[in-house]
Amino acid sequence: MHEAFARQALEQGTCTVMGAIPRASNDTRLVVVDHAGTHFKAVYKPASGERPLADFPPHTLSLREVASYRLSAHLDLNVVPPTVLRGDLGAGPGSLQAYVEDSGDDDAVALTEVDGIPAEHTPMFALRTEDGTDLVLSHDAREGLRAIAFFDLLANNADRKAGHIITGSYLPGSGAASIGTYGIDNGLTFHAEEKVRTVLWGFSHQSFRVEEIDALDEVVRMPTELRTVLDESLEETEIESLRARAERLGEAGTFPDPPQDRTVIPWPPI
Ligand SMILES: Nc1ncnc2c1ncn2[C@@H]1O[C@H](COP(=O)(O)OP(=O)(O)OP(=O)(O)O)[C@@H](O)[C@H]1O
Ligand SMILES: [Mg+2]
Repeated sequence: MHEAFARQALEQGTCTVMGAIPRASNDTRLVVVDHAGTHFKAVYKPASGERPLADFPPHTLSLREVASYRLSAHLDLNVVPPTVLRGDLGAGPGSLQAYVEDSGDDDAVALTEVDGIPAEHTPMFALRTEDGTDLVLSHDAREGLRAIAFFDLLANNADRKAGHIITGSYLPGSGAASIGTYGIDNGLTFHAEEKVRTVLWGFSHQSFRVEEIDALDEVVRMPTELRTVLDESLEETEIESLRARAERLGEAGTFPDPPQDRTVIPWPPI
């Protein structure tokens, strides 16, 4: 209910653009959305403000943000906060995504010294800082993280940083209804070549559950309803690659190991 409301509000609400979010690589603006007596924050990423990348076609990141939400919503993964395409917000067409208010008590992913790894965390990756301190990246095994890790394999997410995993709520006043662990910044997704870079490799070797297998089967079947919504954002070859990834994952039956022949962690990881 809250998700449908948020989506409708993002599509039809009155938007006030407040200003740029500092330090983002792309033009990223905070917006207040007003709809049916409710107002909440959202993030507008105009295609015109995307920094060009060598490996993704220009001005397609906001489309990929929307495709990410559509896939997550179609499969009931609840990973990506509601995200729509808006054409009427000052800087031109772009994505508008509900803002996840961090609940503040989260250490789902941690970067700590070796003796500070939280008890329930799986260590992932060690790095040495410029001053010679050894740090370890680790994460816990909560359901919300597993859903993000699963989504990222399907969406081929090339940039799942720890800082882009937020536990909180995107609709103030919805009570517990919209609280969850969400993945934001899903623009580097759906490339036709394999590119998964993530801090969530801790689920490797775990068998997919029945509902995950069902989700993979659904993508392999690619019903018209799913194809139609993805068609609005992605190239045919990218949709076909998504289908092929789902097929490979289903055949393997488990979360894969990180490949050995390329970079598998985003940089910086936080
Ligand atoms: N849906 C959201 N909910 C909460 N915060 C968000 C959301 N989207 C973006 N932000 C905030 O805005 C910042 C910039 O957004 P985002 O990371 O998507 O843009 P970017 O241009 O890809 O930047 P980066 O260089 O961090 O990858 C995020 O680091 C985060 O703090
Ligand atoms: Mg980014």
